[in-house]
Amino acid sequence: MRTVHPFASALFVSLAATACTRKGIQTALDNFFLAAITKQPLFTIPDVKITSNGYSQANLNNTPYANITWLERPEFKIQALDVIACQGARYTVSRQKNSTGGEEPALVSVRLALSDNDGPISELEILNIKNGSHYFFRPDRFEDRTPAIFNSSQAFPPGASLLQTAVLPRKDIIAVANTYIDGVQSGKSEGVKAGPTCRRISNGEIEGTKCIEGLEQLKWPVEQRRWIADLETGVAFGSMIFRGALQMPDDTGDLANEFIAVKDGKIREIRAAVAYSKKDINAMWPEDTTRSYVNAS
Ligand SMILES: *[C@@H]1O[C@H](CO)[C@@H](O)[C@H](O)[C@H]1NC(C)=O
Ligand SMILES: *[C@@H]1O[C@H](CO)[C@@H](O)[C@H](O)[C@H]1NC(C)=O
Ligand SMILES: *[C@@H]1O[C@H](CO)[C@@H](O)[C@H](O)[C@H]1NC(C)=O
Ligand SMILES: *[C@@H]1O[C@H](CO)[C@@H](O)[C@H](O)[C@H]1NC(C)=O
Repeated sequence: MRTVHPFASALFVSLAATACTRKGIQTALDNFFLAAITKQPLFTIPDVKITSNGYSQANLNNTPYANITWLERPEFKIQALDVIACQGARYTVSRQKNSTGGEEPALVSVRLALSDNDGPISELEILNIKNGSHYFFRPDRFEDRTPAIFNSSQAFPPGASLLQTAVLPRKDIIAVANTYIDGVQSGKSEGVKAGPTCRRISNGEIEGTKCIEGLEQLKWPVEQRRWIADLETGVAFGSMIFRGALQMPDDTGDLANEFIAVKDGKIREIRAAVAYSKKDINAMWPEDTTRSYVNAS
């Protein structure tokens, strides 16, 4: 008879447990927006690393954090909570102060990393999209609530039966999401693991009728792809640089934050936050290959 000492097995479980919790990451994301609105300090490590639209910032007040006054759609939260990487990302519509003292809607996508065990924020990567940041800008087209495809479990996606549904590990969620980015780069749709109704919505604007349409117009190198993934919902979040932008001067690229809902092994919907940048901008963040979590399943 095989016996396992109960204490030894409990110890194994706790050592194997992930370093952050969904609740801890979710709370940190909530607090980012709450602190921005109320102009309270954030709970960060002393040498927190911050970027805003691709550039390093020493001070939070040099980021959109300083201008956010309200949330336009508080119940709209496209997000990925990654307990293995101790990171989370969220995309929503804020209201921000503008240059004439008024307020305007602006899109915000933020990725943050926590120190181990839901500790203080160690990384903050903000992408802010105001009117004029990109050709696509439709803050009025966002839903009031998070669409179910983004907040439902991988195991029970809307419209599917449990028996048909593949629940993917972290690496596979990312691999499926990355097939779309490979398609952007190659201009070919064949390898994209897209579901039959896969939509891509950029800054609120629905692009075409299917996410795999029109890839041949793009064919840009897409570099510095960095990914996290939500095991519960199957939502992958990728931050990357498109070395090109449609109908823009040759030195222009897109900074892109892609929230990709993967259900049953296929891409069901993509919500992208994109802002023009210098095409040759360098990412200020480490490549995934240098991260300790890269091989975690
Ligand atoms: C805050 O808004 C003002 C007015 O539009 C603008 O000049 C400034 O650049 C904004 N700050 C940031 C960090 O976006
Ligand atoms: C600032 O926002 C107000 C609305 O609150 C708007 O009327 C005004 O045109 C905006 N100013 C600029 C420069 O966009
Ligand atoms: C963006 O600004 C332009 C004017 O520069 C205005 O015509 C347009 O309505 C604005 N869009 C939004 C969504 O506010
Ligand atoms: C997910 O979104 C749906 C549709 O907006 C909403 O009814 C539901 O309450 C949300 N569920 C969770 C767990 O947030």
